[in-house]
Amino acid sequence: MVGRNPYADRMDERKRVAVVGGTGVAGRLTVDALRRAGHDAVPLSRATGVDVATGSGLREALDGADAVVDTTSIGTLRAGRAVPFFEAAARNLSAAAADAGVGHLVALSIVGIERVPTGYYQGKLRQEEVLAGAALPVSVVRATQFHEFAGQYLDRSRGPVVVLPRWQVQPVAAREAADLLAAVAVGAPVGRVELAGPQVERMADLLRRTATARGERRRVVEVPLPGALGRAMARGGNLPQGDHRRGEQTFADWLAGA
Ligand SMILES: NC(=O)c1ccc[n+]([C@@H]2O[C@H](COP(=O)([O-])OP(=O)(O)OC[C@H]3O[C@@H](n4cnc5c(N)ncnc54)[C@H](OP(=O)(O)O)[C@@H]3O)[C@@H](O)[C@H]2O)c1
Repeated sequence: MVGRNPYADRMDERKRVAVVGGTGVAGRLTVDALRRAGHDAVPLSRATGVDVATGSGLREALDGADAVVDTTSIGTLRAGRAVPFFEAAARNLSAAAADAGVGHLVALSIVGIERVPTGYYQGKLRQEEVLAGAALPVSVVRATQFHEFAGQYLDRSRGPVVVLPRWQVQPVAAREAADLLAAVAVGAPVGRVELAGPQVERMADLLRRTATARGERRRVVEVPLPGALGRAMARGGNLPQGDHRRGEQTFADWLAGA
């Protein structure tokens, strides 16, 4: 995959693109994809002195940017933390971008956030709602869980036994999501597009395979989660429904090369 962007026909003149969250999993790869295509990519995050939650450092950092991509995240499942974070980030980022004369804001979101009732997804929905009222053109790229997600989940879990709900996913390579984000950012606004990987998998299985590949001896236990959330996860609420783009790299191929 490296060096080839399937969406590259959309990349023409050189543009300056700010990538907020540009030090994270998706953000780093988006910076890479933009640079490979000859664009000027500027990673922004708290590590570079920019905080989207407070707006600190944001306006100045967007000077001269043609487009801005939002790949920020907060490590919580609680609505009480996720909703204020994504709401403030969307407001601060869209206001600063409009003020700086940025022509296009692209946000990375998640497939199925309206079907799967988690607090984190309430935050993502709020982000999309705020951006729908922004004073500049906005595109939303919704992706399914990344192949990298299983590793992120393992990293956030403590102890030798990792528990997670029964969860059907259709994971996609973060690199393919980044390629799409980069191409959308330098092109005309697209409204909303969805991206999913090539195969439906069980998240517990992805965790086990990731742990084995890392040489971690941890037991992964899949439990049926009661209620609407458990049903939505187990029955495919995070799978794409209707029109979507299909990534090519399977989890197995990604893991073999990771
Ligand atoms: N992971 C997945 O499977 C997946 C799938 C589909 C969509 N998404 C979406 O994609 C986005 C990125 O996910 P990810 O997994 O790539 O995230 P990640 O690896 O956790 O990275 C998060 C990034 O956000 C930055 N950040 C956090 N708080 C910030 C703040 N207040 N101000 C500025 N920057 C801040 C972090 O850098 P600092 O700590 O330096 O600030 C980091 O660069 C999220 O919105 C997520 O919902 C994720």
